[in-house]
Amino acid sequence: MIFTPTSPIGIFDSGVGGLSVLRAIRAQMPEEPILYFGDQGHIPYGPRPMEQIRDFSEAITKFLLARGAKIIVVACNTASAAALKYLRERFPAVQFVGMEPAVKPAAETTQTGKVGVLATPATFQGALYASVVERFANGVELFQDTCPGLVQEIERGNLQGGETRRILENALRPMLAKNIDTVVLGCTHYPFVIPLIREVAGEKVRVIDPAPAVARQVKRLLEAGGLRNASSGRGEVRFYTSGDPNALKSLLPVLLGESGMVEGVEWVDEVSIKAPTPA
Ligand code: DGL
Repeated sequence: MIFTPTSPIGIFDSGVGGLSVLRAIRAQMPEEPILYFGDQGHIPYGPRPMEQIRDFSEAITKFLLARGAKIIVVACNTASAAALKYLRERFPAVQFVGMEPAVKPAAETTQTGKVGVLATPATFQGALYASVVERFANGVELFQDTCPGLVQEIERGNLQGGETRRILENALRPMLAKNIDTVVLGCTHYPFVIPLIREVAGEKVRVIDPAPAVARQVKRLLEAGGLRNASSGRGEVRFYTSGDPNALKSLLPVLLGESGMVEGVEWVDEVSIKAPTPA
């Protein structure tokens, strides 16, 4: 595999969640071309077995590498929990950046010593979360919730009221009653409902979106490897989805504030992906 500075950054998620990471990468490195893969045909990943998520992640990584990706951003906490370690072993020549719930900055800054963590069931079950808690919680009390249905609401573009609010109230109210002062977003979909989280939790509660820190890490790795794109224009972003390309196309302006070319892809089976067909 040959990686060059003009090669794209590969990003994937089970759906639109990774767009919160893409947005941060684009803000810090607008000139970088990007390939984004949303596995919307398989969403949600959260309740799935780890082995299956690992198979999906491997196939998507191969798909992105075959299209020249110079680094892979696993912009999904669930896929990171299930597959990051495996992907690093399976593709030793490739640099990966993954997600982990930001327990460390939360534990360092909480005043009440109580922190809420919102993430999927697979993320909470994984060894990655256990290790983050063990290394960084430092006596801070963590309250966890899987927010059932929230990922699907965000996939439909429901960022404001109704069911989305109900799910967040169910998750946050018991934590607020325990006096949390910080909420960690341990799922990349959730930054899209930060305004609603603030409405429910109040302005005093700190909400931690790890996307900017992840984008900084991507930048550091590219710089260290001599792989930063030196051009001054805006890099092209290409989107691939295993769901409905038209639905993704219409959601992009809502979530990202910009549009882009979306291509539909099909899974042959659970371990291989067919070449895309333009939308
Ligand atoms: N966006 C994914 C994450 O960060 C989860 C969504 C899903 O359950 O598919 O965990």
